[in-house]
Amino acid sequence: MFTFKDFDIKLDTETIGRNFIYCEEIDSTNSFLMDTKNKIDIDGTVVFAERQFHGKGRMDKKWYSAKDQNLTFSILLKKKINEKNISIISLGTAVAIAISLENLFQLKVNLKWPNDVLVNGSKIAGILVESSMQGNKVDKLVIGIGLNVNQTTFQGSFSIPPISIKSETGTEVNRERLLGEILNNFEEILNRIFISPETVLDDWRSRCRMIGEKIVVEDEANSRTGVFDDIDEHGFLVLRTDNNKYEKIHLGNVSLR
Ligand code: BTN
Repeated sequence: MFTFKDFDIKLDTETIGRNFIYCEEIDSTNSFLMDTKNKIDIDGTVVFAERQFHGKGRMDKKWYSAKDQNLTFSILLKKKINEKNISIISLGTAVAIAISLENLFQLKVNLKWPNDVLVNGSKIAGILVESSMQGNKVDKLVIGIGLNVNQTTFQGSFSIPPISIKSETGTEVNRERLLGEILNNFEEILNRIFISPETVLDDWRSRCRMIGEKIVVEDEANSRTGVFDDIDEHGFLVLRTDNNKYEKIHLGNVSLR
């Protein structure tokens, strides 16, 4: 059960989550917001689901989440979005989750490019960002977040093992307050992205342990090796290749080599 009162008390935003759509079951909160037939166009709308039939992960993977246990939701952004700030918004979302977990549960959070959220080397949250264009302008950005909260057993095979807040802290978590905290932090970070994006990039860098390490970046077509030099001003990964060239990478899966 989702207690709206707890969520309302905690939510302290101007726009994010002020239009809140709660679903017991849905195909995917991201797909719902991406589908123009649903005609949702209020900036900051949050669609929350207790269960998704076809939860989507990055790189065409699936996202499984037990009913009523976790946080699976998507945020719709309609304003001030352009192609250049999509990646930094995606990194900023991971920072908002990290700050929330640190503040509420004193967890030590580590971020993996582009936007995996890890605790003790295990994945606690994933983020899927989707966008649609109208002409050459971004019409909308949908940021989907799956955060493992009270689920303690996970079935399936995973490239990074899953973990939840409860399995890490041993205590049942109030999901409504946590959701409010994440949306508050997300809005604060989004505002900072438009005023001082470097501070958000620094927040991300300070939680990433892979910078300076030898890595492999794989996408569907390519595998590149080199050193994770940094992230650039847009949030792209800067790879120093083995022949000392610098490549900017927009998407892919990173692992240590
Ligand atoms: C990943 O790490 O692969 C990203 C997972 C993103 C999952 C969330 S759950 C809410 C939203 N709706 C979806 O279908 N996916 C995202």
